[in-house]
Amino acid sequence: MARADFAIDGTFYIDRMLVRTSIGIKGGRITAIKKNVEAYERESFDNSIIIPGAIDLHVHFREPGLMHKEDITSGTTSALFGGVTTVVDMPNTVPPTTTPERLSKKLELYSSKSFVDYGVFASLMPGGRVAKLAEQASGFKLFMGSSTGELMCSDPVQQSKLVEAAAKTSRPVVVHAEDEALRNRISEYNLRDHYRSRPPECEIEAVRRLVRFAESPSRPRIHVAHVSTREAAEMKHGENLTLEVTPHHLLLDSEMPLKAYGKVNPPLRRRDDRIALMKLVTADKMDTFGSDHAPHTREEKEDEFDYAPAGLPGVETMLPLLLQLVGTSELKLSTLVRMISEKPAGILGARKGRIAVGYDADIVVVNMRKIRAVDASVLHSRCGWSPFEGHLAVFPEKVYLRGRKVVDGQALIGKPQGMAVHGVHDG
Ligand code: DOR
Ligand code: ZN
Repeated sequence: MARADFAIDGTFYIDRMLVRTSIGIKGGRITAIKKNVEAYERESFDNSIIIPGAIDLHVHFREPGLMHKEDITSGTTSALFGGVTTVVDMPNTVPPTTTPERLSKKLELYSSKSFVDYGVFASLMPGGRVAKLAEQASGFKLFMGSSTGELMCSDPVQQSKLVEAAAKTSRPVVVHAEDEALRNRISEYNLRDHYRSRPPECEIEAVRRLVRFAESPSRPRIHVAHVSTREAAEMKHGENLTLEVTPHHLLLDSEMPLKAYGKVNPPLRRRDDRIALMKLVTADKMDTFGSDHAPHTREEKEDEFDYAPAGLPGVETMLPLLLQLVGTSELKLSTLVRMISEKPAGILGARKGRIAVGYDADIVVVNMRKIRAVDASVLHSRCGWSPFEGHLAVFPEKVYLRGRKVVDGQALIGKPQGMAVHGVHDG
């Protein structure tokens, strides 16, 4: 066997177990897993565990158009320091990613600026050129209800047509599932009001409809974003209907004194709801973790509650917060890796998300004893705040992207090297 370019010796998460071994890396891929891999260079880790990089299918990096909140450089840097080596960007930028031309432009921006591997979701809207968009997009985003930006299709008949059109392309459709007709138009002064303005029924009704869409003979691939209610999470899913959960819906609730910094769609629910969601996660009933990283400035969040925009940052804290739950035995490492790496890679069809021969060497080294509190002043998002301030977390010590070291402690190494992710089914 040819010598590897580079080898790493350590304790790896491989096939649901932690094993002491070595991996060889060549051309960015893992080429060998065995004791004593021969390599030109090597690095060894003794007090750490090594897991696959996280894949976040849900980020809003705000470029083009809203770069005072975030841009591709700051957003992808933030991702890397949180152990996220692949992101897929949402279409509610300015202008929104609704046409093949805008999609190409966004991909071009990513190709020169991104520090992580990436994909882009196209907007799924009436009049959109779905087949053409599918040639370059990792998938589609459908907003069933309104949120930040103007992308929304609230009519059930249209929604069904759009999902059918996407099914023909075999790309996944990520859905913001809140039924517009069931929203309550009330003045909002706090998080409890925000909860009432978008009550659980909003989400439950939308997800019920998606369950029906998923049963169509065309078998559309539907991924429900940020499920926030127990009832929606318990609905029939599997194969072509998958469910995402966010760290904020598991760790934060509307009874906490977060003011508009906790305003997000769908809303933070009550304590009981988030505990019920956590139970479903630990029982391995949910599919993926996504951050729904949606930064807004402090100034915007300090506005009157009703006017403050919904959305909160989270790409850098997602894996660290969840690793801390592994450290306290509230979450199994196997559940974490399945939901944050393996399953998202499966949805993209990418050879990523596992430490296995033939897979990209996207790797995160963590020392589970190095626990620190989240401190937004040292995070890398442009927005400069975190709703998780003070929460305990385990941040990565080192991060490798396709075998190249890109994070070493507090240092970012090298230039942007992110590449577009291609699925195994792509031409
Ligand atoms: O709270 C939210 N903020 N929900 C979304 O669906 C969009 C996001 C944003 O882009 O700010
Ligand atoms: Zn979102």
